[in-house]
Amino acid sequence: MHYNVLLLGSGGREHALAWGIAKSSKLGELYIAPGNPGTESLGKNVVLDATNFDEIYDFIQEHSIHITVVGPEQPLVDGFADFLEEKCQVVFGPKQQAAMLEGSKEFAKDFMKRHDIPTAAYEVFDQSEFDKAAEYIKEKGAYPVVLKADGLAGGKGVLIPETEAEAMQALEELKEGSLSDAASRLVIEEFMEGEEASVFAICDGSEFKVIGNAQDHKRIGEGDTGLNTGGMGAYSPAPIVTEELLERVKSEIIAPTVKGMKSEGNPYLGFLYVGLMITSDGPKVVEYNCRFGDPECQVIIPAMQSDLLEVMVACTEGRLSDTEVILDDLYRCTVVLVSGGYPQSYAKGKVISGLDNIKDAMVFHAGTKRDGNQILTNGGRVLNVVTEAKSLAEALELAYQDVSKISFDNMYYRTDIGHKGLKHLE
Ligand code: AMP
Ligand code: GLY
Repeated sequence: MHYNVLLLGSGGREHALAWGIAKSSKLGELYIAPGNPGTESLGKNVVLDATNFDEIYDFIQEHSIHITVVGPEQPLVDGFADFLEEKCQVVFGPKQQAAMLEGSKEFAKDFMKRHDIPTAAYEVFDQSEFDKAAEYIKEKGAYPVVLKADGLAGGKGVLIPETEAEAMQALEELKEGSLSDAASRLVIEEFMEGEEASVFAICDGSEFKVIGNAQDHKRIGEGDTGLNTGGMGAYSPAPIVTEELLERVKSEIIAPTVKGMKSEGNPYLGFLYVGLMITSDGPKVVEYNCRFGDPECQVIIPAMQSDLLEVMVACTEGRLSDTEVILDDLYRCTVVLVSGGYPQSYAKGKVISGLDNIKDAMVFHAGTKRDGNQILTNGGRVLNVVTEAKSLAEALELAYQDVSKISFDNMYYRTDIGHKGLKHLE
């Protein structure tokens, strides 16, 4: 059978997923909503409002879609998978209660506590308890301390003050910003020392398979400085994730997560992103995300030797354990080219030149748009240059060679992607 696929999203992650799905021998038609200029050659870009579930359902019926794949977290946290399932449609992505692993920090922390999954110690406060929260921080007197808004905050809900004065100011900031909604809650966490890495699994509700690991670069500036971004670059595999560490992540974190969600009546189907701190006590969970990482997806999907669409279909049918997930052993990296000013204000509509000069890399689009024969910038994160090689050093060298061939007005990128990984390999 051939499957007609609807893929939701428009970022570099969705371009990479579309690229992976388009290679499938089982693919019928691929539609990407809304997609970007990079996905045009892989399927049909269609304009659909991701918040209008009924509109998407009409499209699914009109185009005989067999499986809908959801890229970003918001529709999942909003219950899109539940909506489609009620309409007897097949969807790859967790239902609302399972997506709470990302949608609510409090839910995720309480879940980890119930299932003995290693993570930072924490306490939760509601809107009326800011004074109590301030007392709690002062009493503990341990800095830095981590303050997190409970719900989705687009990466802006976490503050890590280093002194008591900073912590009190951070509380005020949260109160006025991400925590201004009366229903919102605050999670205060112990600060974990270590290096971060992410492990990605694909899950069918009962079983999981690891499909890769990576290290992201969240800060805008060289040497991990400045504001947080969606991610400025990534490489995979991450040398810090040794075989031994991965076994611990599987047995101490991913297996109890998948088992725990199932036992609580919320079987987890879809990509599971586990953000980890590798501490001196071993791996601990920083956060879960209910979707693939962006830009991590761009360096992991190309490693899949198995048919991505077949694996996703197998998950929706609860057959993951009978399905092979084979990955190659190359290193991949991606350097993200962004509009100068990102993650704050930046200009759009700048002409991108040099894309035709890229021969040995893949370029996954994110914030771009087409204007006749030209590709223009249309967002903060604009392009992902992805290269592969037998060594990380070689992959990085190739990536930066290609980056130098692309240009647009006020283009910015980090020149130190992968440096941490290279250090581990020394
Ligand atoms: P989150 O949105 O929970 O991933 O937090 C954003 C970033 O804050 C993470 O990627 C970490 O760099 C940092 N972070 C969050 N929680 C902790 C923690 N408990 N200890 C140290 N760093 C943390
Ligand atoms: N790259 C981080 C994320 O996808 O959340």
